[in-house]
Amino acid sequence: MRRSAITIAMAGTIAAAALLLPGCKQADQPKPEAKPENDKELVHHFMEDQVQPTAMVFWNSVQFISDEKGFRQVKPQNDAEWKRVEDAMLHLQDLSATLQTPEYSAGRGEEWNGFAQAVSDVAKQAEAATKSRDTKRMFEVGGTLDNVCESCHKAYLPKSETQRPGEKS
Ligand code: HEC
Repeated sequence: MRRSAITIAMAGTIAAAALLLPGCKQADQPKPEAKPENDKELVHHFMEDQVQPTAMVFWNSVQFISDEKGFRQVKPQNDAEWKRVEDAMLHLQDLSATLQTPEYSAGRGEEWNGFAQAVSDVAKQAEAATKSRDTKRMFEVGGTLDNVCESCHKAYLPKSETQRPGEKS
């Protein structure tokens, strides 16, 4: 439990303590509030309140629509709108870094950080494509982003939940 104690001291929250439990034996669980549910809540809120809305800014920014009115493209209309998308993809890189901190990653195994880093890498590509206002590239990168989100969900979410996260519309 030594490593746990250090990590708790660093993070300084009860929620962080809960994160360490998956790696601990049942008998080592010291406090009743340190249940895995707290860990679930933490990631749940982080995904819903931060990761998802930030990714949606990018996914919504360029769309190719083909219907009875023909082929149309939705894209940012002015500098401020372009900047907002670019900033979102910078922010997603920060969020991915946060996911890799012990508060979120402890007890999840090595793959966790790899998945989070993949989101960061793709967010960087998304940022670059937005900067050069390359809508075709943005659209492609948007598909890749969806895939990297899903790959982590496939690894860590129960099967019934893997369809919901990261859906575009
Ligand atoms: C490092 C792993 C990881 C990555 C990468 C990841 N997620 Fe998640 N995500 C999770 C986990 C774990 C949950 C389940 C949280 C819970 O238990 O409720 C989740 C849940 C969600 C949820 C549903 C919230 C809920 O539980 O109802 C949404 C929406 C979501 N993620 C969006 C995204 C998007 C969008 C991306 C990519 C930009 C992404 N996630 C990338 C791990 C990840």
